[in-house]
Amino acid sequence: MAEYTLVVVRHGESEWNQKNQFCGWFDADLSDTGLEEAKNAGKLLKEKGYTFDVAFTSVLKRAIKTLFFIQEELDLHWLPVTRHWRLNERHYGGLTGLNKAETAAKHGEDQVKIWRRSYDVPPPTMEKDHPYSSRKERKYAHLDAKVVPQCECLKDTVERVLPYWHDVIVPTIKSGQRVIISAHGNSLRALVKYLDNIPDSEIVGMNIPTGIPLVYKLDKDMKPVDHFYLADEAQVKAAMEKVANQGKVK
Ligand code: 3PG
Repeated sequence: MAEYTLVVVRHGESEWNQKNQFCGWFDADLSDTGLEEAKNAGKLLKEKGYTFDVAFTSVLKRAIKTLFFIQEELDLHWLPVTRHWRLNERHYGGLTGLNKAETAAKHGEDQVKIWRRSYDVPPPTMEKDHPYSSRKERKYAHLDAKVVPQCECLKDTVERVLPYWHDVIVPTIKSGQRVIISAHGNSLRALVKYLDNIPDSEIVGMNIPTGIPLVYKLDKDMKPVDHFYLADEAQVKAAMEKVANQGKVK
C-alpha cells in the first residue's frame, strides 16, 4: 500500500543541453526553453493538486532555478530547501564542454553511448588544468579533495547519491513531510535505478526527460508501488528519445 508520495524532476533544458554539450558539474544556466519547462512543471503539479513541505536540490543553478520556478507556481517560496553536492549531475570528466554529436562523429555513436549510459564505464578523467574544472570552486572548498570527482560512471554517481538518500531524504519522507527533489538526468537515473531495482544492463536504455515531474508512490519500507510521469505517454516517449538522440551524429 502506498504510504508516501515523492516527486522528482530533472531540471528544465540548460543552455548546454541546447548547445548539446556534455555538462556534468559545469554550472550551466537554464535556457529560455528550460525556464518555460520549469514553470510548466510547477503549473502541472499545481493543477494535479501536489504540494510539498521540503525540497532538495543540487548545488547547480539549473536544478536550483527549476525548483524555484516550481515553488513560484505553487506559491511555496517559503519551503525549506536543502542544496547538496551529492545530488549534482554525474561528473562528465574530460568530456565536459565537448559537443555530444561531434564526439559521436569522432569516437563513434557506440562509444558515446557507453560513456553516456553504461553503468560502470567512466568517461575520460578531467585534467587538472581543464577549463571547466570544479576543483577550485568555492562551493566545493569545504569538501575533502578525495570526494570531489574528476569523472564518474553511473555506478560512482549511485555511490555518492545513495548515502544522501538514506541518511537525509528517507528520514525526511518517513517523518511525513512531502518531498520534491529537483536534480539531474544522471543523479536521477542513479536514484531511479536503486528505487526500481533496475539491472545494470537495463539502465543503459533509460533516459530522463527535462522538466517533467516523475511521481513515486512508496510503501512504508520506501519500496515503489507505482511511479508515473505527469505527462501523457507519447509526450514522455518523445522527450526521452530527444535525450537519447543527443548522442547521435548530426
Ligand atoms: C549533461 O551533463 O551533459 C546532461 O545533463 C546529461 O547528459 P547525458 O544525457 O548525456 O547523460
